[in-house]
Amino acid sequence: MEDVQQRHANPVVVDAGSGNAYLGFVVYELFLKDSGGGELLSIEGRPDLTERAKGRAERLHFDRMRFQTAHIDAAEYPERIHVLMALHACDTATDDALVAAIKHGADHVAVVPCCQAEVAAQLKEKKAKPAGSMSLLFQHPWHRREFGSHLTNVIRALTLESFGYQVTVTELTGWEHSLKNELILGRRVHRDNRRARLQLQALLAETGVQPRLTRLLGITPAGAGSEPMPDVEPEPVQDAVPESAPES
Ligand SMILES: C[S@@+](CC[C@H](N)C(=O)[O-])C[C@H]1O[C@@H](n2cnc3c(N)ncnc32)[C@H](O)[C@@H]1O
Repeated sequence: MEDVQQRHANPVVVDAGSGNAYLGFVVYELFLKDSGGGELLSIEGRPDLTERAKGRAERLHFDRMRFQTAHIDAAEYPERIHVLMALHACDTATDDALVAAIKHGADHVAVVPCCQAEVAAQLKEKKAKPAGSMSLLFQHPWHRREFGSHLTNVIRALTLESFGYQVTVTELTGWEHSLKNELILGRRVHRDNRRARLQLQALLAETGVQPRLTRLLGITPAGAGSEPMPDVEPEPVQDAVPESAPES
């Protein structure tokens, strides 16, 4: 938030899968309320939650908080997003949030994924034809769920990298507060990153999974005869995050 507020007079912050918008209220209170500019858009699928949060924002005179009842993948976004956050957006809703961030050139992304079931189901199908000892990692349902969730988040991080984000994966808070505790932070510093893209495609090919995120972005697994991984430096972008980039 400090970074985008230094570089943009009216930063656009999106909270995807906002629920009661608690996170949005905190961010607005801390960063936007007294800054005189910028807006926070909460996107939530349940109209009752949107209405309740809207009423709370009106009572608090948080005039630059906006609310939209919509699915994350069908919402109307401002052309440019500066910060996108998604806290515990269920299952593949986190993927939809990441797609919105990538498509709208978000400078910063912060997601804490929720439970994940899609990739575990894909791994189960794959179990029928295991490739090497890799499949031992997910033979038991419990392992499949954990490994599926881990693999999903590795793919999410690598996808962000392939679109030019510098990624940090860390924990959100103490484990006593939440078991869904993996915080994936992305900061856009390059136009894209071919090396990360090739690593991602190789991972998709080796594991045989194709999560919603990579399907939506059209990222395909590496072909059987694909080239060896080249040592390619990512290309920087002009309006990338660091330091004193011009207002856009
Ligand atoms: C676990 S709650 C988290 C809410 C909030 N981010 C928080 O941490 O307090 C997940 C919320 O995401 C919403 N949600 C799930 N999938 C969604 C989608 N595809 N589009 C919009 N909202 C979605 C749910 O209705 C729910 O309110």
